[in-house]
Amino acid sequence: MTTLNEQPAVTPTASRFSVQGLSKRFGNLVVADDIHIDLTPGARMALIGPNGAGKSTFVNLVTGLLTPSSGRIVLDGEDITTMSASRRVRNGLVRSFQVTRLFRELTVADNIRLAVLQERQQYMRLFSGLANTPGLDEEVQRILNELNIRDRASSLVHNLAYGEQRLVEIALVLALKPKVLLLDEPAAGVPDSESDLILEAVGNLPKDLAVLLIEHDMDLVFSFAEQIAVLVNGAVMATGTPQEIAHNETVRNIYLGKGH
Ligand SMILES: Nc1ncnc2c1ncn2[C@@H]1O[C@H](COP(=O)(O)OP(=O)(O)O)[C@@H](O)[C@H]1O
Ligand SMILES: [Mg+2]
Repeated sequence: MTTLNEQPAVTPTASRFSVQGLSKRFGNLVVADDIHIDLTPGARMALIGPNGAGKSTFVNLVTGLLTPSSGRIVLDGEDITTMSASRRVRNGLVRSFQVTRLFRELTVADNIRLAVLQERQQYMRLFSGLANTPGLDEEVQRILNELNIRDRASSLVHNLAYGEQRLVEIALVLALKPKVLLLDEPAAGVPDSESDLILEAVGNLPKDLAVLLIEHDMDLVFSFAEQIAVLVNGAVMATGTPQEIAHNETVRNIYLGKGH
């Protein structure tokens, strides 16, 4: 058996993010079972699977909230398997959360401004005036544009529709300058009438960003993804294009039902 150090380095251009043989056991329960996933720059992959399949566990493993039992996680050629969760974020591996963590009494622009400042670790600037921070407004505008919410910049978050609030959450994540973005159910709780907003926003994410979407909304999954991985009992039981997955008999039986 080789040690971690003897394994060949991964070239950054070939793979931005690579999960190699990742496993996690809780006693006898295997919740992640030899998972291999590769994201190239600009990848649009969806991870789907029934409840309890291990999707959240997978995100917790790769972001450093849980320690894997075995396997390797590589970001831009660097082994990050034992790196702290906060350093992974600084290195560009960023997740969005299902729970809302917006300042509801502030405007959309101020929420984003705070996130950009946090990324720059310039909390002290808050006390010397937000307007004096070089490039801050440009950065906030860039993010507002990326998510097509410029016309909401001056709105208080609590006045926004729920779907729009989810967009602002994605905006906060973009402020962290991700290279790899793990979107954890961005459409959860969003009414059907607003789900197009989310669809459009994830469709317009920066082209070179590698995105892994975890989502139950199959319309969103199938319109967004170029690749879909199906997780069942902690193991990837199929990977393929949306077409391949939609026509995979086993996947249909286990997961998709008659809809696709
Ligand atoms: N800390 C834990 N200890 C024991 N079992 C856990 C723990 N976290 C998750 N599990 C189990 O792992 C399995 C996968 O859960 P989860 O990752 O939440 O699935 P999903 O997000 O796909 O619905 C479930 O059987 C769950 O009960
Ligand atoms: Mg989950």
